[in-house]
Amino acid sequence: MRHALDYLSTLLHLIGMLVFVGGHIWFGILAALAEREPQPAGERFLTAALPVLANGFGLGVLLLFGSGLLKLLMWGEPGLIFLPDLYGWIFFSKLVLYIVIVGNGLLIERRYLPRVTNLDGDEMNAAWAQIKSRARFNLVLVLVVVALGETMRFSKL
Ligand code: HEM
Repeated sequence: MRHALDYLSTLLHLIGMLVFVGGHIWFGILAALAEREPQPAGERFLTAALPVLANGFGLGVLLLFGSGLLKLLMWGEPGLIFLPDLYGWIFFSKLVLYIVIVGNGLLIERRYLPRVTNLDGDEMNAAWAQIKSRARFNLVLVLVVVALGETMRFSKL
């Protein structure tokens, strides 16, 4: 049973990363490519796809949290009272960054995405610029969280 749960939590953490981390990387690449185009077609395509992408990111974030919690219950050392340990501090940093990432993602989805779809002209451009810079900031944080996750795993070997 323990093996199955371990496998399941790792699989779901990986799928969550595929969707969430991979999604951020692809969004960064596509936004950078669209920026270079003289025609705004690429940016229009991305803004049209963003509501669907946002749902995918939401799913990835939930998968990461659920499977992370499962992992923690099985692997957390020493149990849930871990702060005196280095392991606990790494996990704590990971959780704080995760909260910042989710908060930033919510701002993108709830504040700036509706502005991009409902407004036009300068206001729309300002909202689009906010989305791009916040998504890039999130990508950097997510990569740090990946490194922290690996550190947690290998700190036990
Ligand atoms: C952006 C979100 C996240 C990313 C990119 C991420 C990434 C990773 C990576 C790369 C690993 C190491 C590989 C593995 O063991 O499968 C890992 C392990 C882990 N993660 Fe996450 N994670 C995220 C969110 C979370 C959350 C929200 C929690 C807790 C609620 C969590 C808890 C854990 C635990 C407990 C481990 C196992 C460490 C060990 O083996 O001791 N993660 N994570």
